[in-house]
Amino acid sequence: MENEKLLEIMKNRRTVRNFLAKPVDEASLNRIIEALTLPPSGAGLLPYGTVVVRDPEMKQKIREGAQKVEIEYYERLTGRLKDKFDKMGVNSEKPFLTDAPVLLIIAGDTEKPYWLESTWLAIGYIVLAIENEGLGSVTYTPSDFSFIMDLLKIPDRFVPQVILPVGYPANKKPPKKSRPEGRIYYEECKE
Ligand SMILES: Cc1cc2nc3c(=O)[nH]c(=O)nc-3n(C[C@H](O)[C@H](O)[C@H](O)COP(=O)(O)O)c2cc1C
Repeated sequence: MENEKLLEIMKNRRTVRNFLAKPVDEASLNRIIEALTLPPSGAGLLPYGTVVVRDPEMKQKIREGAQKVEIEYYERLTGRLKDKFDKMGVNSEKPFLTDAPVLLIIAGDTEKPYWLESTWLAIGYIVLAIENEGLGSVTYTPSDFSFIMDLLKIPDRFVPQVILPVGYPANKKPPKKSRPEGRIYYEECKE
């Protein structure tokens, strides 16, 4: 059963967009942040930086900035993606940016090799670390990140990839089941 532990964490991790007001304790946050230092990365350079935001006023500014760009994005959106978002209840309102006690903004350092691949690998690690603490998150990727550069004083060489709100889930979807249609082929691709 020990061997199944990581798979259990992966199955239980579901996107959380509704958070309780309950604070995230320091030890949990530190373990989550530590997970960012452990993934493999191009030349071992960990080519990304993370800003931890807990200040309610800053979270409010981030929410306002994000919603501004999202209003324009959702107005332009048509077709299948729009239908899908409508079904999911995803729209330009981003309450999780102020409801979650912590926001983690992860940005790739474009002056380092393999920055994009390494940054997303680290995001994969951190979402599992968040789940492991009994917390939840959504890999929120606004359509345009420019608003956050000045707000958080991020130097130009960094390109933000995600805002991860972190907090205790107010509700959560059921665990995932393994999907046999996962396009795994042995010896050669059979597409
Ligand atoms: C690269 C990436 C970008 C995403 N961007 C958003 C986003 O901007 N807003 C959002 O609400 N969810 C976003 N998601 C979450 C997905 O909608 C979610 O992972 C998907 O519906 C599957 O649900 P699950 O995470 O519970 O397995 C993103 C996920 C990934 C991996």
